[in-house]
Amino acid sequence: MAGDRVFPPGFLWGAATAAYQIEGAAAEDGRGPSIWDTFATVPGAVEGGASGATACDHYHRFREDVALLGELGLGAYRFSTAWPRVMPDGRTPNPAGIAFYDRLVDALLERDITPVLTLYHWDLPQALQDRGGWLERDIASWFTEYATTVHNRLGDRVTQWTTLNEPFCSAFLGYGTGVHAPGLRDPKGALRAAHHHLLAHGHAARALRAAGATSVSIALNFSPALPNSPDDHDAVRRFDAVHNRFFLDPVLGRGYPADLLDDVAHLDGLHPAIHDGDLDVIAAPLDWIGVNYYAPTRVTSLPDPTQPSNCPLPGLRGMSVTPPREPVTVTGWEQHPESLTDLLVRLGRCGIPLVVAENGSAFPDVVDPDGRVRDSDRVRYLAEHLRAVHAAIEAGADVRGYLAWSLLDNFEWACGYGPRFGVVHVDFTSQRRVVKDSGWFLSRVATRNAVPD
Ligand code: FCB
Repeated sequence: MAGDRVFPPGFLWGAATAAYQIEGAAAEDGRGPSIWDTFATVPGAVEGGASGATACDHYHRFREDVALLGELGLGAYRFSTAWPRVMPDGRTPNPAGIAFYDRLVDALLERDITPVLTLYHWDLPQALQDRGGWLERDIASWFTEYATTVHNRLGDRVTQWTTLNEPFCSAFLGYGTGVHAPGLRDPKGALRAAHHHLLAHGHAARALRAAGATSVSIALNFSPALPNSPDDHDAVRRFDAVHNRFFLDPVLGRGYPADLLDDVAHLDGLHPAIHDGDLDVIAAPLDWIGVNYYAPTRVTSLPDPTQPSNCPLPGLRGMSVTPPREPVTVTGWEQHPESLTDLLVRLGRCGIPLVVAENGSAFPDVVDPDGRVRDSDRVRYLAEHLRAVHAAIEAGADVRGYLAWSLLDNFEWACGYGPRFGVVHVDFTSQRRVVKDSGWFLSRVATRNAVPD
């Protein structure tokens, strides 16, 4: 149709979720506690004292949720398996827990929806945290055992395997700033934890491949740094190193960026964690990179380059994060679709296919008396970001798919149930689902493989 921007044939359209944010059923069928169950009990850790104990009750309602994906005409569903459901103590398989994902995958395949399975979306078994969690080097083999266990059960039907979701958040927010589980505030430990995430990724990616997986990926969260003035280019470099290149470069086989190693040397966490051969393990071949993008970050250089900044890694020097510019979403994230185009074009030069594995926005949605959710802000955000993806493809980036965050309103980590990111509204009391205008918009885009101008 005239005025449409058409995506390449076979482009994958879908929506994403994560286990702890939607499943609930925290103590059912032998599931063990995760670090998020524990963290949620710490006073003040989660807004409103909320937890994922019930969340969207997806564990019991997954058939209804899969039917929604079908109704929306989405061809892919990105979800995560909960390690503490599959292995309650982190090491011992729990057949009843794995059986849930068996049912979920079958329900998706019955509707021709491609499962895109993420093995780790932040819900570490508490039993492993008690042994050091991501600070402990052995986690690379614990994670590999877990990955292999899930693959043994589902590998005959699941073709798309993603090892980790956003190791940046898991390591730096979990072990550095302490705003996520397990809530530790230790910059040195955060760097060590980050290296162990990458090591676990590399070992698991190799094990999955050896077990026959034909598509293996990792989902990284990127935030392009934007300078406030021409004097801020060193701040841009520093932020980009710790937030973006830290994870991207090693998985692409380039090792850690030299400038990053310098910038964090005084924290003494990264160098000591790296053993001979680790970087080769981390450079396991990948089929695509999952690009999670929400917003850019405005940064400024500090007059004294030794002055510590608290963002994004406590103890990092020479730069600080400054307030976003309007328009922002309810989480205070700047809406800047041009940054998504620039990011995809830049990543596209790495020569590896890309999938936008998360992109979305939170707004104060309400169900109108006529039963409709008129989330025009989200429709606009989606349209602008889809046009941004299209522009990147036109500029040569090899982007294969777009998975909206999120299918459902859900437990938004430390923010509790406040920010609603879903294209489907969830009433957390009745568990009623209502497709928002943005859900129908995404559905039209997916079925026509085109976004309107
Ligand atoms: C990402 C997370 C996802 C969700 C969105 C809003 O960083 O991967 O679970 O919280 O942000």
